[in-house]
Amino acid sequence: MKSQFASGIMPQKTLQQLLAGTLVTFMAMVSVACAGSESGSATDDPATDAAVSADANVAAVDAGTAAPDIGQPDTATAPASAGLVGTTVLADGNPDPHIVEVKLTAGTTSLKVFDDTPALQMYTYNGQFPGPTLHATIGDKVIVHFNNDLPEATTVHWHGLRISDKMDGNPRIQEPVKPGGTFKYEFVVKDAGTYWYHPHMRSNEQVEKGLYGAIVVHEAKIPPVARERLLVMDDIRVNKDGTFPPFLTSHPSQMHGRLGNRLLVNGKEAPIAVKAQVTDIERWRIVNTANARTMHFDVQGEALVRVVGTDGGLLDKPYVLNKPLTVPVGQRYDLEVLYGAAGKVALRSYVPVLGANNKVVYKPFAQLEVDVADKKDAPDSYTSPFPGAKPHKQRFINRKAVATFKAVQSSISPTGLAWLINDKAYWKDKPLWTFDEGDTVEITIKNLAGPEHPFHLHGQFFEIIEPNDQPGLKDTVLVPGMKTVKIRAYMDNPGQWMAHCHILGHAAQGMMSEMVVNPKKAP
Ligand code: C2O
Ligand code: CU
Repeated sequence: MKSQFASGIMPQKTLQQLLAGTLVTFMAMVSVACAGSESGSATDDPATDAAVSADANVAAVDAGTAAPDIGQPDTATAPASAGLVGTTVLADGNPDPHIVEVKLTAGTTSLKVFDDTPALQMYTYNGQFPGPTLHATIGDKVIVHFNNDLPEATTVHWHGLRISDKMDGNPRIQEPVKPGGTFKYEFVVKDAGTYWYHPHMRSNEQVEKGLYGAIVVHEAKIPPVARERLLVMDDIRVNKDGTFPPFLTSHPSQMHGRLGNRLLVNGKEAPIAVKAQVTDIERWRIVNTANARTMHFDVQGEALVRVVGTDGGLLDKPYVLNKPLTVPVGQRYDLEVLYGAAGKVALRSYVPVLGANNKVVYKPFAQLEVDVADKKDAPDSYTSPFPGAKPHKQRFINRKAVATFKAVQSSISPTGLAWLINDKAYWKDKPLWTFDEGDTVEITIKNLAGPEHPFHLHGQFFEIIEPNDQPGLKDTVLVPGMKTVKIRAYMDNPGQWMAHCHILGHAAQGMMSEMVVNPKKAP
């Protein structure tokens, strides 16, 4: 069946035309934008990237065998209306509806991830890869009883949550949890949105080996959708014998971070196959948990896709996705997906690979393949469950700060190559910046080197003001090679906060700092 959507507001014909136009333009733009204009970032270790191409091709052949995951999650804790799929949810052991109390154990697990390699010796949360999703509702108190069964010390960082710095997993504040040790994390989730958790000790290795999981904080009123799909996107670098190649030993990995040779969705080799029905509306929550890879996504097939949320939650002005969506490491996006016709819809990732004449080209690889079935009595009109959130308060800038990024040869870094923020590596003895609670800071970030950097601030949200094509609140911004970006940061959460590059190898080589936000003095 070919479904037609009408809206209560727009004359039916206009919307049909709009929809048709969207799809046509969308596909046309994809080929242009990905083949040529983004070649600037295609310089990332082409040899490595070419390896992805070979493996991903192999993966494509196996696409049909993955289990469909339509329907309700196997958990009692997710509200039925949310229908969170693609993940398991941490079981809430507390009967109080406003307290989420969970157990989280980091440990070593042997897991069969790829058909063509032996089981990997991984680091996992609760024996799973990715770790189970932490699910809460805005305003909830979260208590996490954390155990460390790893052979090394670790912490857990709740990426994006505006909580107390004591609970943020910063090993300069929190005593790292030793092997066999425990820690009780306790915080209130103030903002609805899609977040994730991961260690902040030797994260370049610990995250790569499997330590990460998603966090979903639901709005008080959950936008009604057929289901919510968590799409935790990663790439990992493994040898054919199932071992992890050594870390930071190659020049490309020191320069560009560790790019994987296998693409993963929710811990499974891409693409994964799922099912839906015509006129279903889904909410996709995309998280990029890779060590270094900036991802570029599009959706192929008869679907209307709108960007409805970013790092900081739902947008006030959702917009139709009509060009590939760039998701750097650490960022999240919420998409609204409306299936327009029976058939196939695919979420694709554009990966730089070596093409003809050793030229780097972006090639699409399917990540998620949706088999869209006909539906009897499908509705003939469409009302978006994401009409636009209340706009957040934009404020005038009262302070300015600058960050510059560059690399130098220096023995301060274990590799001999050091990545610097404002000419300094690690910033161990003093903060990079000191602000006051309530400050609105314009931060100009200048990348003086070729590799790109996804720069992340803990504990605060910001807007990207230059370029101005990425609306919404963020906690991570991509700073392309040799480019300058500007952000407007809302320093509303007092404490001592990490500020670092989320290419974890860069952070390990010095691209790590802290900023202090002093609490407001009592009047
Ligand atoms: Cu994902 Cu310091 O963070
Ligand atoms: Cu970096």
